[in-house]
Amino acid sequence: MSQVEYKELAHLYDLINEEFIAYDLQATYVARLLRAANLRGNRLLDLACATAQHATRLAAAGFAVTGVDLSPALLAQAAARGRARRVQLVCGDIRRLPLLKSFDAAMCLNHTLNYMLGDDLARAFHDIAQRLRPGGLFVFDFFDYGAKDEWIAAWRECAIGDGIRVDMTHRQSIDAAGRVATDVHTYEVRESERVSTHVGEDHLRVTHTEEVLAELVSCGFRVLKAGTKHQLGLEPTTKSVAVLAQAVPRDMRGARWLGCGDGFGSVAK
Ligand SMILES: C[S@@+](CC[C@H](N)C(=O)[O-])C[C@H]1O[C@@H](n2cnc3c(N)ncnc32)[C@H](O)[C@@H]1O
Repeated sequence: MSQVEYKELAHLYDLINEEFIAYDLQATYVARLLRAANLRGNRLLDLACATAQHATRLAAAGFAVTGVDLSPALLAQAAARGRARRVQLVCGDIRRLPLLKSFDAAMCLNHTLNYMLGDDLARAFHDIAQRLRPGGLFVFDFFDYGAKDEWIAAWRECAIGDGIRVDMTHRQSIDAAGRVATDVHTYEVRESERVSTHVGEDHLRVTHTEEVLAELVSCGFRVLKAGTKHQLGLEPTTKSVAVLAQAVPRDMRGARWLGCGDGFGSVAK
């Protein structure tokens, strides 16, 4: 969805996404991953938190969560659903984070980093590294477009609930340079007697795991784990990759990721 659609369809965000995203599983996984990596402290920054689905669950699990998102409409939905009582919500851009305080960990889930085109990915990684204390942890995911066996040019989806039905169609293509994927989509919403159609376009970065990890390292992180969500037991797809990284102190930067055949990188210096 584009920002215009987030505004128009904010009230349907949870209905649509709960159909496709296993929020309980993902939040449990993040908590487990951070604790297994010996997280010190509990200040967690949820980047592109949308309606605070993960943030609320992680607050219930004992984290002090701050959620940041570009969409005021989605943040208003989070507040309307009572989630702002448990987490701090901030409207802002993850490429220019508005927060001054330091965090013990950060997360950015469900492919938001694919929206960072050109230099924006490095800008976001750099800004996130600045917001983490040395040794702070960062969990994120992205679509790896190198997984060509999972490339799908067109598909349909449907979400139904509360007397509402949303039919979605998507058409994806990649530009000639192989850098940007365009997803043209239509959302047809049937609410009571009303039918409305919303057409939008998303532009996603065509990423490859090695490239993302190299960028991460150049921005001040070292990679602790990287694997497809399938390997991590999070999703059946192999196209989506999850990463756990650690912010390194300035004088220790220059770490390199040593990839392992099983999809998990070992910590490297
Ligand atoms: C694919 S959704 C994922 C949201 C959430 N993490 C989840 O799993 O439900 C993408 C989200 O990223 C937000 N977003 C996109 N670009 C952003 C940016 N530059 N800064 C902050 N949020 C952004 C959108 O408003 C939207 O909430």
